Amino acid sequence: MKPSTAGGGSRWSRISHKLKWTIIAITAAVVILALGLGLGLGLTLGSSNDSDDTGPTAPPLPATPSNDRIWTPAVGASWQIILPQPIKLDPLATSISPDVDIYDIDLFTNPQSTIDTLHRLGKKVICYFSAGSYEPYRPDSGNFKDSDKGKSLDGWPDEKWLDLRSDNVRNIMSKRLELAAAKKCDAIDPDNVDAFDNKNGLGLTKLDSVRFMSFLASKAQSLNLAIGLKNAGAIIPSVLPAIQFSVNEQCVQYKDCQVFSNFVNASKPVFHIEYPSQVKKDFVTNFCQDTGPAQGAHGFSTVIKNYNLDGWVQYCNGQTATTQMGETSS
Ligand SMILES: *[C@@H]1O[C@H](CO)[C@@H](O)[C@H](O)[C@H]1NC(C)=O
Repeated sequence: MKPSTAGGGSRWSRISHKLKWTIIAITAAVVILALGLGLGLGLTLGSSNDSDDTGPTAPPLPATPSNDRIWTPAVGASWQIILPQPIKLDPLATSISPDVDIYDIDLFTNPQSTIDTLHRLGKKVICYFSAGSYEPYRPDSGNFKDSDKGKSLDGWPDEKWLDLRSDNVRNIMSKRLELAAAKKCDAIDPDNVDAFDNKNGLGLTKLDSVRFMSFLASKAQSLNLAIGLKNAGAIIPSVLPAIQFSVNEQCVQYKDCQVFSNFVNASKPVFHIEYPSQVKKDFVTNFCQDTGPAQGAHGFSTVIKNYNLDGWVQYCNGQTATTQMGETSS
């Protein structure tokens, strides 16, 4: 878990002009390439149908999965996220609070019985893990090499940025995706993929993040797992076609929900978290409209959470709930 502290996060407005022009140039190159290809095909085939037009894209990522065994969550779907402990759910439970569509829970600490029970209760399960940071307390933590690790994460001194270009890191993440598939998660929520936006100590760039998301997305697709993009607003245009949803923290606080509206416009949900204590205004209305600082948040699946992402949650209709947490057993 890594709610970004003020000053972190993926902020287009903080990107240098040079980078902005780089992105614009790449986008332009892709459009020209796509037009050229389209013309070429058009000339060769005469009038063909345009059903493979998937909108804006960038070179590295495959198009939206044609694999219909991959879950495609709907815009506006209701959800809950609980990370510091596994949730406590009796295998014989007949309900869970809150009664929402989707649970985003830790991949490692939640037992198979919890995932199976959530499915029996009609819920979809998103399995959270950190894909871009080293955490010392995971079962596979010993497999990382010293050379894989960069600077500590701001606010999370135990965690270190990982080298997204490292084959060793990618192999470990492949295994994590295989674990998610084996546990029958419907989707994965790989965190900390925005090293480019932080002092990572490894020289990681946006392109490294795009390539890493490309790697994760194709592996996820091969395992019939949906995949979300955590924060990382600056790379949305490059990865959107291969990603099924966004998990966003604090776009109202940072006034950049508009960037994430790209997802809703592509009929993909934005699972949106705000931490009221961070902005010292705990009025639901501040986070649940789509004007003012929340401009662009129309259609977002908003939850108001404590900073540690425990069982407490509040929704835009004002209702609150607390999901029971259990002990970490592994
Ligand atoms: C998404 O669509 C809305 C409504 O048409 C528009 O205002 C907004 O600018 C779009 N977002 C992006 C990132 O293009």
